[in-house]
Amino acid sequence: MDLSKVYEYPFKEYHRQPRALIGPGTAEMAGPEAARLGMKHVLFVTTGLRGTGIIDELKRSFEDSGVAVTVFDKVESNPKDYNCMDTYSAFMQAKCDAFVSIGGGSAHDTTKAARIVAAHDGRNINEFQGVNHSDTLQNPPHIAINTTIGTGSETTPALVITDTTSPNAPHKWVGFDRAVSATLAINDPVLMMTLPADLVAFTGFDTIAHASESYTTRVNHEATAPLALHAIRLTMENLREVVANPRNYTAMANMVWAEYIAGQALSNGLAGVLHSLSHAVCAYYDIHHGLNNAIGIARVWAYNQPAATAKFADIARAMGVDTRNMSNVQAADAAIDEVIRLAKDCGCPDNFHSIDTYSKNRMGTGWYADRPSSIHSDEAEIDKMATHMMNDLCTALNPRIMTHDHAKALLRECLSGANVRHTGTSVLHAMHSSNGVANGRAVVA
Ligand SMILES: [Fe+2]
Repeated sequence: MDLSKVYEYPFKEYHRQPRALIGPGTAEMAGPEAARLGMKHVLFVTTGLRGTGIIDELKRSFEDSGVAVTVFDKVESNPKDYNCMDTYSAFMQAKCDAFVSIGGGSAHDTTKAARIVAAHDGRNINEFQGVNHSDTLQNPPHIAINTTIGTGSETTPALVITDTTSPNAPHKWVGFDRAVSATLAINDPVLMMTLPADLVAFTGFDTIAHASESYTTRVNHEATAPLALHAIRLTMENLREVVANPRNYTAMANMVWAEYIAGQALSNGLAGVLHSLSHAVCAYYDIHHGLNNAIGIARVWAYNQPAATAKFADIARAMGVDTRNMSNVQAADAAIDEVIRLAKDCGCPDNFHSIDTYSKNRMGTGWYADRPSSIHSDEAEIDKMATHMMNDLCTALNPRIMTHDHAKALLRECLSGANVRHTGTSVLHAMHSSNGVANGRAVVA
């Protein structure tokens, strides 16, 4: 009997999380931990974190522990294939024996990619997109020192890389590989207190995206539920405060827990079309992943609500909504209202057109040099981005079946749609009725 026709995801996988150190002062333990793990010469992999002093302080700590350090600080946001290959080359050139990623998802994902390349004699990283394509579980050890409240990458087996070289480019692909979980994850809230307020807000929306998507995917992984809902609770209780005051240690420590356990929820429950949408827009415009999530989240929740109404009602309760006198539909709608309000309170833009200009990572050189620094896609580009979404690993996991037309409608909404902060999500609700909804699942035309 072909069970896939009866159950969409009959078999679940539980991914063991790496050992982790969490709390103030844990970053200072990284050097001694590296020595205890037998590391002799590590490659620091980072965007540079310029102006924070973090890299210099950590370098001193490692060297004081007898571990030599070479710094590679050329990682870009939305890491590109060439970042991964350059990191591998730096590792080989300096004859290192281990990696230390310092930063957010870009540093951690680039490092995971370089470890895969190192384990496969320098093969191109784009050969490893998809699920478990490593031929071996053996690759160089890796300490992931996290500095944001969004990524989760320090604890997941996932990596997301932009292909800039194959005929598919630009293509931001997802890898999920049991060979690449870090050896040791470090989450020191003191490091997050140097983040600028807009990055606090954007990365916070990555956390609520991880929690809400892992809880509502078709994977239906029971181990995800308590972590995801608690991460949402912590985010609702602390994100506004850390955006307004990143130096509130208690609130930041709570957001670090939210980020960390949302990453663990993501490791097993995986993600849906909010991440597909974010990957598509990032592939074409190289903007911050968390910013994409902040713009898309209310629209994606509204799109998915008919297919996961009870779960969105649970999310409303985790967000602090008193749902005792509400139906599940009313509670799910209240969750959408709450996330719209949260994005507004955190100063997140409403749609992509409302961002006049943004800083492209390459700052005028390289792969994105000829792209505009504001986002105004025409129909042909929306069509290409919709195709990118449909081919994304996360789309198949989404609670509501997505069509190419749905993807285009969602993209148009996020690019230039009516102001969701003022009008709610009427356009996407209208889309439900035009396509029809039966038994909680959209009828796909
Ligand atoms: Fe994410």
